[in-house]
Amino acid sequence: MHDATARKSIKYGILTASDSGSKGDREDLSSQVIREMVEGPPAGAARGVVAHYVIVADEAEVIAREISDMADNRGIDVILTTGGTGLSPRDHTPEATYAVIDREVPGIAEAMRQAGMRATPHAMLSRQVAGTRGQCLIVNMPGSPRAVKECLEVILPVIPHAVEVLRGQARDCARLGD
Ligand code: MTE
Repeated sequence: MHDATARKSIKYGILTASDSGSKGDREDLSSQVIREMVEGPPAGAARGVVAHYVIVADEAEVIAREISDMADNRGIDVILTTGGTGLSPRDHTPEATYAVIDREVPGIAEAMRQAGMRATPHAMLSRQVAGTRGQCLIVNMPGSPRAVKECLEVILPVIPHAVEVLRGQARDCARLGD
């Protein structure tokens, strides 16, 4: 059973990795999509607040440091990253994520890629990963606003249970809808 009333609001963090965005040369539409989806009705039970947002250049060390800071010092439950997952030489988000997670959650990335490939075969070119650091869940998403929307539609239904389990609050593993 899910008890929505007892559940603490989910605190989200957003990290955008983009060389051009961090210089102000491009508007960060993808983070706006994330914010609209997690703070609005599309999130359903996964609805929460964006407690921290940062946009950084595609530098692995900077990305890793910002993810660690959100997980360790800011009480963020779920960090959603956008950008830097592809094959260009400047795409480092998966490496930065691997450097800071304790455990990988491969099913999340598998599910996003699988759903993405129904929209475009290019989805298989994203090296996006997901994992946990302490009680924080970290999920990489590609950089385009459309990809972000498609990925969130896949993962939002499982976020509440993932957060409950990470917080040690889950009483059982009821199926979605039970
Ligand atoms: N996934 C979904 N769901 N929808 C998309 O449109 N675009 C792909 C892929 N994943 C896409 C997607 C494309 S075109 C690329 S190049 C890779 O994500 C990597 O994107 P990134 O480098 O912006 O992270």
